[in-house]
Amino acid sequence: MAELSGYFIGLMSGTSLDGIDAVIVRLDSEATAAEQSTRLELIDSISQPLPTELRQQILQLTQPGDNEIELLGQVDVAFSRLQAEIVNQLLQQSGIKPEQIRAIGSHGQTLRHRPEQPIPFTLQVGDPNTLAEATGICVVADVRRRDLAAGGQGAPLVPAFHAQLFRHPEHQRAIVNIGGMANVTLLPADASSPVIGYDTGPGNVLLDSWIQRHQQQPFDRNGDWAGSGRCDQQLLQQLLSLDYFRQPAPKSTGREQFNIDWLDQQLSLQSLSLRPEDVQATLLEFSARTIADALQQHQPGPSQLFVCGGGAHNQLLMLRLQNLLPKITLSSTATLGLEPDWVEACAFAWLAQRCLAQLPGNLPAVTGARGERILGGIYPA
Ligand SMILES: Nc1ncnc2c1ncn2[C@@H]1O[C@H](COP(=O)(O)OP(=O)(O)OP(=O)(O)O)[C@@H](O)[C@H]1O
Ligand SMILES: [Mg+2]
Repeated sequence: MAELSGYFIGLMSGTSLDGIDAVIVRLDSEATAAEQSTRLELIDSISQPLPTELRQQILQLTQPGDNEIELLGQVDVAFSRLQAEIVNQLLQQSGIKPEQIRAIGSHGQTLRHRPEQPIPFTLQVGDPNTLAEATGICVVADVRRRDLAAGGQGAPLVPAFHAQLFRHPEHQRAIVNIGGMANVTLLPADASSPVIGYDTGPGNVLLDSWIQRHQQQPFDRNGDWAGSGRCDQQLLQQLLSLDYFRQPAPKSTGREQFNIDWLDQQLSLQSLSLRPEDVQATLLEFSARTIADALQQHQPGPSQLFVCGGGAHNQLLMLRLQNLLPKITLSSTATLGLEPDWVEACAFAWLAQRCLAQLPGNLPAVTGARGERILGGIYPA
């Protein structure tokens, strides 16, 4: 087993397309298969919005369209150059040298995630060769596709990390990441019980798209705009009737399912036209309900819920979640010592360590893969 304590960088850019999050963490040396917990110290972090043009191009590539291969090739490299700039900025800001970093764990930017097709695939861009070349640091990338090749969903991958970091021997805990999509991780107190984890459905993605269209704001700060409207029960019930919510896990989803065109179709089935703020209020309730319903499906249910991802800052969403789950103590992962904005990026730093240590990164019970697999490809410094 390689000696693998040291600094790792994690790079995360999720379905919200809000930007790239980067962290430097220090991970402890004892990465063994039997290990039940990881020691992680967050050293420094940075977040950069995506430039408008690149964001537009990525958005374009998430839907079928013209000239895809040419655009894909360009976005792949352009995105990794931006990743490299952010890494170099982070290094400068922290005073840590590239040689001190063992590896960068790069998620890349998902363009398509289609685990349910007859020929399933998931596609992330962000060329690891360019990133390694421009930073001088070893890169671990392409972490989803091995799990998919082994019959899994390739997602969500973070529950394994949540289990390493946040499991408690006495409390049933749940972690909910509210990014573009939302995913839950249930961490039974009993170490012999399997961890459960899957995507519950939309997190912020529909809220973001709707406010961008009607208010020209990137997102609904604190849920204020949603709070000015009223949830429409008929629309809510219609959204909740989607098959996805009744499908058993393992399951994962993305912009292929939850996007503004889908929302427009749903709205066109409504007999009355709703005020935009009422639609926003309904979308907020939709995210809260699908998360809460998922958590209530499992027995014994969690007694503690910790939220991470940008949605943790949406006060109205947090309030609705707490109201729907009155018996559960709700807080953000900051209570556990890790700020909600950096959990996902830390998970990718950890996945890089797992890959270098030749240890599995997936939880087959979560992704549905045939077995544990070492995830990712290594692009040496
Ligand atoms: N103060 C806030 N009020 C309301 N929403 C917020 C606030 N801050 C962030 N958000 C929401 O969080 C989103 C970004 O969250 P995050 O970066 O966790 O998502 P992501 O990049 O899509 O990650 P994931 O991979 O988990 O999908 C923003 O698009 C916005 O909707
Ligand atoms: Mg983000």
